Amino acid sequence: MNTVTAPAQQHSKHLKDITLKVWRQTGPDDRGHFETYRIDTISDEASFLEMLDVLNEKLIAEGREAVVFDHDCREGICGTCSLMIDGQAHGPQRGTATCQLHMRKFQSGAEIVIEPWRAAAFPIIKDLMVDRSAFDRIVESGGYITAATGGAPDANLIPIPKPVADASMDAAACIGCGACVAACPNGAANLFTAAKIAHLNLLPQGQPERFKRVEAMVEKMDEYFGSCTNHGECEAACPKKISIDVIALMNRDYRKAKFKNRKELSVR
Ligand code: SF4
Ligand code: FES
Repeated sequence: MNTVTAPAQQHSKHLKDITLKVWRQTGPDDRGHFETYRIDTISDEASFLEMLDVLNEKLIAEGREAVVFDHDCREGICGTCSLMIDGQAHGPQRGTATCQLHMRKFQSGAEIVIEPWRAAAFPIIKDLMVDRSAFDRIVESGGYITAATGGAPDANLIPIPKPVADASMDAAACIGCGACVAACPNGAANLFTAAKIAHLNLLPQGQPERFKRVEAMVEKMDEYFGSCTNHGECEAACPKKISIDVIALMNRDYRKAKFKNRKELSVR
């Protein structure tokens, strides 16, 4: 008797009757409103953005305007995908950017509410797309790091303890998506700014400009964003699971920078 069984087949399921309530806004000055759409059937293997692609193909075929949303890499790297899904930044799956969320997270018959980031510092451009250039202003204000130009130095030339290298790499995982701001009741950008500061300030290469950098970046952040009151929503929403410990590091360095300035002024 032949006892060999066929390899297990992986069958994808199809979700039926998904209702989408999508924020539509023609431009920054429009008040905006929700529109309701139906997706009759969609594979649970489709990503959330692929589901929106299906919606847009349907809208275009009907002669209607496609929903505008930001995306680029679709693999959790670029940070452009930025949707509030059922009131959660990047949706229901922790540590996952919108582009990596799959429809298997939802049930047939689900109603899904899709909004843009809601934050004063991220004005809506159209529909689900926001202007996150305030983040660029913060990064620009940080300036450069002092590094000798020329041939690439040997990788082991500057010894860096493993825990320090790991902490720096963890902070460098920030993709600048803005979920931390969107999730924060104060619209604060402390997690983003602190991550950008920490990945340089922890390393030997980041030391020459350490205090100048933290001062400039924190003060630029304060021009656009609200204040941190330790809610911790940013950490919960971050698709890269960046720890709020980096905020403590930023606050420490900022105070040291201010103290240093005061001392230098009193010496003059
Ligand atoms: S800290 Fe996290 S949530 Fe904030 S911008 Fe970076 S990756 Fe996005
Ligand atoms: S599209 Fe690049 S991180 Fe989502």
